[in-house]
Order: sequence, then structure tokens, then C-alpha cells
Amino acid sequence: MGKAWSGRLPEGTDRRVEQFTESISFDHRLYREDIEGSRAHASMLAHVGIITSEEADQLDKTLVTIRDEIEKGDFTYDISLEDIHMHIERRLIELVGDTGRKLHTARSRNDQVATDLKLWVRKHLDLLDSRLEAVQRAFVTTGFRYKDVIVPAYTHLQRAQPVLVAHALLAYVEKLQRDRDRARDCRARLNTLPLGAAALAGTTLPIDRQFVAEALGFDGVAANSIDVSSDRDFAIETVFVLTMVAEHLSSWAEEWIIWATTEFDVLTLPDAFCTGSSIMPHKKNPDILELIRGKSARVIGDLQSLLVLVKALPLAYNRDLQEDKPPLFDAMETVLACLELAEPLIAETTLNRESIAERLPEGFLDATTLMEQLIKVGVPMRSAHEAVGGLVREAIERQCTLAELDLELFEALAPGKGNDVKSSLGVERALAAFQSEGSTAPERVEKQLRIWGKRLGLELS
Ligand code: ARG
Repeated sequence: MGKAWSGRLPEGTDRRVEQFTESISFDHRLYREDIEGSRAHASMLAHVGIITSEEADQLDKTLVTIRDEIEKGDFTYDISLEDIHMHIERRLIELVGDTGRKLHTARSRNDQVATDLKLWVRKHLDLLDSRLEAVQRAFVTTGFRYKDVIVPAYTHLQRAQPVLVAHALLAYVEKLQRDRDRARDCRARLNTLPLGAAALAGTTLPIDRQFVAEALGFDGVAANSIDVSSDRDFAIETVFVLTMVAEHLSSWAEEWIIWATTEFDVLTLPDAFCTGSSIMPHKKNPDILELIRGKSARVIGDLQSLLVLVKALPLAYNRDLQEDKPPLFDAMETVLACLELAEPLIAETTLNRESIAERLPEGFLDATTLMEQLIKVGVPMRSAHEAVGGLVREAIERQCTLAELDLELFEALAPGKGNDVKSSLGVERALAAFQSEGSTAPERVEKQLRIWGKRLGLELS
């Protein structure tokens, strides 16, 4: 059999052109969606009387047969058939002849590919959501397991204030929740049916797009056929959502790589999620985290590719749009793989309690609480800041902690209340003094752990 356009171009296509223009090597991933869309389309064609219900039944059965062939590996691919849409249609015609030749009525590959792609994205956004949720669960479970552990929190990677480690882990839960919310928004926005836009102007045949929308679980019908033919917003938005996930995972990976060093010694990564060295016998390397960090570069590049791809395309379909698939598939598959590994890695990591506790007195983590203690007894904030800065210098000089400084120094700052002020010192007390909403105050963190536990269906005890 020749090309679908052999009437117009009877001489055939140069093999090099076939090689250059094929997309089957990557869009074979869309076979399920293509068949799902075709089944709905065939059923609609019968519903409006364009084909008979017997023909529709035959198309439907044969499309299911083709899906089974593909899944069994019993299907022949050939770049002369260009893409998955042509492959499936060609096989249909092979199997049922003229009835197969009716399927593409009132349809173009332009609305077909947009439909397949939306179905694929929709399904994968759902998978993304469940993987993000699993990682959130791992953070909450680990946070709960170590809910009494205090760690130094950093700004500029310099010791800043003490926080419960659970508070730090819940920060990632919040970030991932925003990713989930973004994915849900994106899914809701993309959920209009492209099919029926045909090439770009619609069709003169009496189709029923609402019928197809309902069959495929779309919330409605895309309103403008030219827009449909050219629209890849949903792919770009999806890759943006994925880029944000990749960014979050990358910063988390960076932090845990640092936390796993001898210098920081905050945590021990599970052996099964590390690798060794081919020459240095003692090494245990955080390669998984490094690759999660590294793979974000690909996803960011995928977003860039898509943005540049569409930036100057005139309406409506242009063949450039075929290049949307490799970056879209790559971003999705990369991020899903990162999440799949992040979950067990987080769940199985252990915190090095003793090592963390031993070094908590270093770095003046209680200095800001001390300043606030002075504010509480009436010292203006700027004066309190300056005074505590002086105490820190004094402590550095004497090589001691703030709590080890003489009482007189505190008395001089807050006459009659030196003891009061001094009693706020020490990392545990500094932490216990927090109270504001959203802070690391222990009761607040406990409550947040419970809220997330409930939301994520976890049994925390
Ligand atoms: N393989 C094409 C793609 O992925 C399908 C659409 C082709 N449409 C066309 N008018 N040539 O974009």
C-alpha cells in the first residue's frame, strides 16, 4: 500500500525524507491513546449516521485487536508509515478493508495528535500526582520518626536558627503540594476535546463533538478549530510543572548531599541507594541524589526546547509541532523516575542524632532568640540586635557559648532582668520559645505533622 497522499504525490517519497520526517520512533508511546480516541470517533460516526453501527462495531473490535497486537509485540513498524496514527490506520485497513478506510472521516492527524497527546498528558499528570504524594508521605513519615530532633537551619549556608528536622522536611511537603496543585490546574485547563477540529477549519460533515468529549472524559469541546490545530500550551505547561518538580527535587538532593558529608554528618543514606568507587575502597557516594540534581538540567532544557519550538509558528498546524514530543516525553519520564527513587531513599534514610546534637551548641543558633528576649523586656529591636552582636563577638573571643557568658553582661543590657534574659539561652530553650503560626514551635510542628498525616492517609503513632 502507498502513502495516504498517493493521489497527489504518486511518485513516492525519498527514503531519506522518510527517515527525516518519521515520528514513530517516539510517538509509538501514544498507541493506547490513539486507539482510545479512534474508538470514540468511530462510535460517534455511527451515532450521527455517517457509518453504520455494524461498521462501528467492526472498527471497534479491530482496534482492540490491534492494541493487543502492539502489546504482545506482534506489530510491524515501518518508518514509511511515519507515525503511530498512520500505523494503526494502515493495520485497520489491512484487517477490515473499506470499513477501515472510513475511520479517518471528519478527522485529521492534526486534531488526532492533539487529542492523543492530551490523553497521554492527562494520564501521566495523574501518575505524577500519585508519585508526588508518595514522596510527600515519605517526608512526613521520616519527619514524624525524628520529630524530637533539632537541626541547625541555614541561610547563606551559615548556621542561622534551630528548627525541628520535621519542620525542614515539611517545607518540602509544601513545595511538592504546590507542584501537585499546579499539575491539577494544568490538567483542568487542558481537558477540552481537540477532535473534530479536523485539519484546522472544522468539517462540513454532521459530527457530534460533545459525544466524543463525553466518551473520552473531556469536560467540553475546544471552542476554536484553528486554536486546536496549533495549541501546545498544555504540553508546555505540563513541562513547566515538571520543571518545578525537578527544581524542588534538585535543591533537596543538593541539601541531602551536603547533609551526608563527613563535614555535616546530619544523615546516613541507605546503602541500596548509594554507589561505591571503582578505585577508592572506602567510598559511599550519593550518586542517586547527584543524578536527581543533574537530571533537572535535562528537564529545564526540555522546557526551553518547547518554548523556542512554538515561539514563531503561524496558525495553524506546522510540522515543527512534531518536535514537541521528545521533550515532553523526556521531561515526564525523567521526573517520574526521579520521584520513584526519591520516595524509598527518603523513607530509608537515618538521621545521625548524636552527631547533630553534639554540634548544636556551635554557631550561635540561639542568638536571635536572645535578641527577642531582650525585646520582650523592653529593649528596642535595633539596640537588642547590636547588643547581641557584641555578645557574640565576646563569646567568639572567649571561645564559649552565649550561655557561658557572665551574668553581668546580661544585667548590663537589661537591669534587674539579666537572669530572665539569660534563661532563654541554649538551643533547646531557644527552640521551645518559638510561637508564631508557621514557625518551628514544637506544638505547631506536631500539629502540621498530624494535618499532613491525615491528608495523606498516614497512620502516625
Ligand atoms: N506526526 C505528526 C506529529 O506528531 C502528526 C501530525 C501530522 N500532520 C500533518 N499535517 N502532517 O505532529
